[in-house]
Amino acid sequence: MAPSFDDGNSLFNFVVGDGNGVKGMVDSGLSTVPQAYMQPPIERIDKDRARKHGQPPIDLSKLGGPEHEEVAKQIVRASESLGFFQVVNHGVPVDLLESLKDTAHDFFSLPAEKKAVYRADVSPTPLVKYGTSFVPQKEKALEWKDYISMQYTNDAEALQNWPEEIRDVSLEYLRTSMSMVRNLLQVLLENLGVKPEDSMIDVLVDKKMVNMNYYPTCPNPDLTVGVGRHSDMGTLTILLQDGIGGLYVKIEEDSEFGKKGEWVEIPPVPGALVINVGDMIQVLSNGKYKSAEHRVRTTSTKSRVSIPVFTMPNATAKIAPLPEVVEKDGNALYKEFILADYMKNFFSNAHDGKKSLDFAKN
Ligand code: OGA
Ligand code: NI
Repeated sequence: MAPSFDDGNSLFNFVVGDGNGVKGMVDSGLSTVPQAYMQPPIERIDKDRARKHGQPPIDLSKLGGPEHEEVAKQIVRASESLGFFQVVNHGVPVDLLESLKDTAHDFFSLPAEKKAVYRADVSPTPLVKYGTSFVPQKEKALEWKDYISMQYTNDAEALQNWPEEIRDVSLEYLRTSMSMVRNLLQVLLENLGVKPEDSMIDVLVDKKMVNMNYYPTCPNPDLTVGVGRHSDMGTLTILLQDGIGGLYVKIEEDSEFGKKGEWVEIPPVPGALVINVGDMIQVLSNGKYKSAEHRVRTTSTKSRVSIPVFTMPNATAKIAPLPEVVEKDGNALYKEFILADYMKNFFSNAHDGKKSLDFAKN
């Protein structure tokens, strides 16, 4: 039986502890958002005031062709200013993108018991984790989101351990998106003066993860967030969003894309993927490329899904600004650290914009 959602403890037990998620709460019939999900006014998202990011998607089929330089420039410019851009002709089949979205909806429609077996404390495998919000134990207001996260080690372990309902499409997505990720990194590194033969791309994408995010319909979208302000901690994130919209990025500095501090919406573009620069790229580039602060709103009309692939170095990797860049800049904005320490800090705090990067500041 559904608990009273006015009581914080029973809500927490139902949603987080028992793994019913926000989805379970919504399905039990809910006409208003419980207190635990009400964001303080400063974190609420005014959807009518945000501009849409009008930049057309970058055509990756032109990399390596006669227009290579122009396309490379577009990638660099977007990474230096917004830290977000969209791409088409990315090598991931468009019908696979459709299957991924359908599969995500099907998965989250499964009975709670089917998903709850992958809760962090009981999951049969350390590779798979099902959860809700980001760090529910630490958050003042919970995020209106359920997710499943699948770490990739190798094909055999993925086939054996990832939930079979979502395994095959997720693996195919990862497989087909990785050469694009490598090409993008190649462009970004070359622009920093790293010679292709010195490339450390293998190190930068050593770890990979496919997530499926589910944002149920929400009775009071103005009071809640799907994901609070954050940047992604890794190298590059590839994000498939559906047609609902509601993904916003903050402009870090005045630029051709808008004014500092302004939030712009990344509009859904059919067939496109969103690329998002993570904290590790900001550190390696000594601040030249910006990891993007972003967030997601909820809607009252339809549930939204998104499917990110996160890439990052191995937990034991030593991360520091690239010597080629520091030499040019004259000083390093970030210190050297072990990725595991950065991750520990990242995953033990509630989302708070780009505060995660303070850990690495010199
Ligand atoms: C994330 C994220 C955005 C989205 O999972 O880190 O920012 O559109 N997702 O769901
Ligand atoms: Ni993110």
